[in-house]
Amino acid sequence: MKELVIGNLVAKIPIIQGGMGIGISRSNLASSVSKLGGIGIISGVNIGFDEPDFETNTLEANLRALKKHIKLAKEKSNNGIIGVNLMVAMNNYESHVKTSIEAGCDIIISGAGLPMKLPTLINNTSTKIAPIVSSAKATNVILKMWDKKYNTTADLIIVEGPKAGGHLGFSNDDLDNINSINYDKEFSYILKIADEYGKKYNKNIPVIAAGGISSSSDVKKYIDMGASGIQVGTRFVATYECDAHDNFKNTYVNANKEDIVIVKSPVGLPGRAIKNKFIENITISKPKISKCYNCLIPCKPKDTPYCISLALINAVKGNIDNALLFCGADAYKINSLSSVEEVINDLTSEI
Ligand SMILES: Cc1cc2nc3c(=O)[nH]c(=O)nc-3n(C[C@H](O)[C@H](O)[C@H](O)COP(=O)(O)O)c2cc1C
Repeated sequence: MKELVIGNLVAKIPIIQGGMGIGISRSNLASSVSKLGGIGIISGVNIGFDEPDFETNTLEANLRALKKHIKLAKEKSNNGIIGVNLMVAMNNYESHVKTSIEAGCDIIISGAGLPMKLPTLINNTSTKIAPIVSSAKATNVILKMWDKKYNTTADLIIVEGPKAGGHLGFSNDDLDNINSINYDKEFSYILKIADEYGKKYNKNIPVIAAGGISSSSDVKKYIDMGASGIQVGTRFVATYECDAHDNFKNTYVNANKEDIVIVKSPVGLPGRAIKNKFIENITISKPKISKCYNCLIPCKPKDTPYCISLALINAVKGNIDNALLFCGADAYKINSLSSVEEVINDLTSEI
């Protein structure tokens, strides 16, 4: 198995555990993956949901929890590689980047928007930066802008395909015809772009495949195509070490293929989730929003179909009937909970 090399960072196992909010990937899951030689990613969005002052002092509670979980994950993984996932669409994105760096995170991974300003925010530190992209076009836009404006490039690129969990960088039409998307071709275009900018900056830019990678043959396929590693979300949810309530993990174990649907999110992007009472209810009537957590720039509390923070906090706490149950397209293939080690061994068995 080839190591995943990102500048001076070397992961023995070329697996990145994808950042999963709210609270699904915090210090426990991230450190468990990192300790075994992979890369653990903490999701930074509303990470302070269980801090005592979260309701009254949300930003401070979030930044305090972010710092706490990064330090804890570094400690528990014996200084393994720990990154943070921050959505560009978040309010207070910049203060979250700054806090993550101060707390000692190794990588900032950003999607749900184009992370145009990320190179300036890392402020000449050694923290690595990675955009999450779903098309060659978006990859070109970001790298061209970083090159022109900041004379720099990405340290790695996460390519998220249409089978991923959470928010998706595809149109509803594309997602309705998921099998007709030739994503492998898009992936190979992105490899070429990474190679072009890598040559210009005299460095290797690893390209990581993500979305619906749930078996060792999926992993082998992308490694054979030229990926330097893979990012996995869904399989890590159904682990004992995942930070979410068991009720949430068990929705994956119990899901059938027909239960997995595309929903509208206040972020302005489609998302993939398990159909439940919450999804049925929001299609009938808009729930009353009594509190705004000020989480997303594009969300207008007056018009939003539901409060995504509340729905995702209900998910991580196991209040399933009132929750948005984000998952990847392959969640229905999971039949039981496993350990992180079992998942990693299974995924890497053919490489
Ligand atoms: C429950 C859940 C929550 C997620 N939350 C986020 C998030 O907050 N930010 C993000 O960039 N990606 C998020 N993702 C995407 C993952 O990081 C990962 O890239 C993706 O799920 C990979 O596809 P897979 O789940 O099929 O392995 C989420 C995925 C899941 C399943």
